[in-house]
Amino acid sequence: MALVPPYIESLRPYEAGRGIDEVRREFHLPRVSKLASNENPLGPSPLALEAISKSLSSLHLYPNGGLDLRRVLAEKFDLKIENVIAGSGSEGIMSNIIRTFLCDEDEVLTTEAAFIGFQVLAKSRGVKYRTVPYRDWHYDLAALAAQINDRTKIIYLANPNNPTGTIFSKHEFDEFYKHVPERVLIILDEAYFEYAKDNPRYPDSMHYRYDNVITLRTFSKIYGLAGVRIGYGFAHEDLIANLLKVKLPFEPSTLAQAAGIAALADKQFLHRSLELNARGLQLLTRSFRELGITVVPSEANFVMLALGSAEQASQLTRELLMQGIIVRPLGSFGLPNAIRVSTGTGEDNQRTVEAMSKLAALVS
Ligand SMILES: Cc1ncc(COP(=O)(O)O)c(C=O)c1O
Repeated sequence: MALVPPYIESLRPYEAGRGIDEVRREFHLPRVSKLASNENPLGPSPLALEAISKSLSSLHLYPNGGLDLRRVLAEKFDLKIENVIAGSGSEGIMSNIIRTFLCDEDEVLTTEAAFIGFQVLAKSRGVKYRTVPYRDWHYDLAALAAQINDRTKIIYLANPNNPTGTIFSKHEFDEFYKHVPERVLIILDEAYFEYAKDNPRYPDSMHYRYDNVITLRTFSKIYGLAGVRIGYGFAHEDLIANLLKVKLPFEPSTLAQAAGIAALADKQFLHRSLELNARGLQLLTRSFRELGITVVPSEANFVMLALGSAEQASQLTRELLMQGIIVRPLGSFGLPNAIRVSTGTGEDNQRTVEAMSKLAALVS
């Protein structure tokens, strides 16, 4: 259709993971575990739910563009409000970044099989999208640095990375950063920050700030708020000022902002979520390895399984689905031989291990 630019025509729409009710109906299953989207299996933060209820009565009023949340975050991280942005999930902010900073001739640089949300957003802008391969399932920062050219405008790094779950250290980042010109914007996507923050190798980017780095974080993962769409970012005030010109004026929504503010204070929920995840990661990693599967060591709330072939990956995904376990095949990311399994409740994890044991023949 002549109306549609070729770079949009060639995109594949984002495929959300399959829903619990749909799978339950299709396969007539009493119980389904959704381990496909790295959500919090404990549900939403209870304090966030309370805050949402309280703010329902003001839904006739327009929201204030995230001002309250920005204020709270600035105080928590000892920054100025001018350094903080809030949006409809970190993907909402990523979309603003792409609209704000990319010109037609610019290029985007990242790893192969980067987080699918970023791939779709960047490719929908029609600019050149360049990648370098993983090295042992980690970002190859040296190779990325070597690929920077005069047209590179945005470099996207997720730490921990989705879908591999791997991290890079402060030292590795610093070595890389030496090669990045000031005119290049680095998006440092820390959607899984909370899961990795206690690892001494993991750099908390709030402890070091660079003028051309924007850090993105989200309430969708550990805070259990993927459904309300709330995320935030930190950057130099000039970057934020320009993002604010482009951002939809009324995002985030009133409910999303209230939920985010309350969730930040929900220490107990955070603690329970972390504990559950640590147990889940350990169990899934160990059990899958015992079946002879290659499991990439993860610092997030999921594990990536590197299988022998694309057929194995799709067969395993299908067989698990029929047993009521929804996992994420990674073909759309660019890794057809791999699948990703999020940690669930203790019961979800146990069911997954049992289901996988029955399928051991498929993957050996
Ligand atoms: C690396 C990464 N960044 C961002 C997101 C999206 O987060 P949000 O729900 O805040 O848009 C995800 C969600 O899967 C992710 O894995």
